[in-house]
Amino acid sequence: MSTLEESIKRAAAALAEAKTIIITAGAGMGVDSGLPDFRGSEGFWRAYPPYARLGLNFESLATPRHLVEDPEFGWGFYGHRTMQYRAVVPHQGFAILRNWTKQPGIHCHVITSNIDGQFQKSHFSEDEVVEIHGSIHHLQCTAPCAPKLWPNNHQFEIDLETMRTKDIPYCSNCQSVARPNVLMFGDFQWIERRTRMQEERFNKCTDCVDCKQAPVIIELGAGKAIPSIRWIGERMVRNRNAKLIRINTREAEVPDGQISIALGAREALERISENLA
Ligand SMILES: NC(=O)c1ccc[n+]([C@@H]2O[C@H](COP(=O)([O-])OP(=O)(O)OC[C@H]3O[C@@H](n4cnc5c(N)ncnc54)[C@H](O)[C@@H]3O)[C@@H](O)[C@H]2O)c1
Ligand SMILES: [Zn+2]
Repeated sequence: MSTLEESIKRAAAALAEAKTIIITAGAGMGVDSGLPDFRGSEGFWRAYPPYARLGLNFESLATPRHLVEDPEFGWGFYGHRTMQYRAVVPHQGFAILRNWTKQPGIHCHVITSNIDGQFQKSHFSEDEVVEIHGSIHHLQCTAPCAPKLWPNNHQFEIDLETMRTKDIPYCSNCQSVARPNVLMFGDFQWIERRTRMQEERFNKCTDCVDCKQAPVIIELGAGKAIPSIRWIGERMVRNRNAKLIRINTREAEVPDGQISIALGAREALERISENLA
């Protein structure tokens, strides 16, 4: 048996016995749904050629500054992503995860740095999801004049040459430009209330008896560049005797004794699923 097949069997065995399944996910989880990850400037520029021409990388675009100083440009980026994430159809791997975790007696949590809302689209309930970097489907004031969020129902048309848009949402309270409720770089205005409430719910539940017993963490497409998601899993390995299954095409290395699957998220989940049947 190859090492890969062995890892898939080990993952299936761990999941078959799990009482608590914690799904952790980064941008790589969206790739099989057709979304780009932002792996390095090259990966980012392949997804957004106009930004390559301007020499702007993800870090220099994902800041509240453009939204305030040049909203047509700032919203060009987030408006484009809003429309893309709104339209995306989650790949089969999401349904597989939902199927495993909806079995009676299973506790399920999702922790993701993705802002695209694909887990909710795949019938994970709001109660189950922690979005550590927020969600593009919620807006807030750029000021912000109040700690208020509202749904992002705005339509955006983007000029794909310039990545600019005329469709700017505004705060109905103070008429400042609105922004997505997403944690950006150098961001002191992000309203973290929604994410903190999600985290509190998670922490309360992980204190319960079932969740305390060695959860199985299934991590999908979480990169090393911003390693918050990887660290969450690795910390639970150390502190909670968790078993970590790390699925990642290119960065699948794991701490000793954990399970590494160097495949795309969808294929890995399908193959584990075959072994669970
Ligand atoms: N869909 C989204 O919401 C979205 C998309 C891009 C970036 N982001 C944000 O950008 C930041 C980037 O960090 P990141 O670590 O999430 O992404 P990243 O782009 O830095 O890394 C992606 C990781 O996924 C792996 N990967 C690529 N394709 C895969 C596949 N098909 N299956 C499994 N793994 C695959 C790569 O090897 C890499 O380790 C995060 O803060 C995230 O919130 C969000
Ligand atoms: Zn306001």
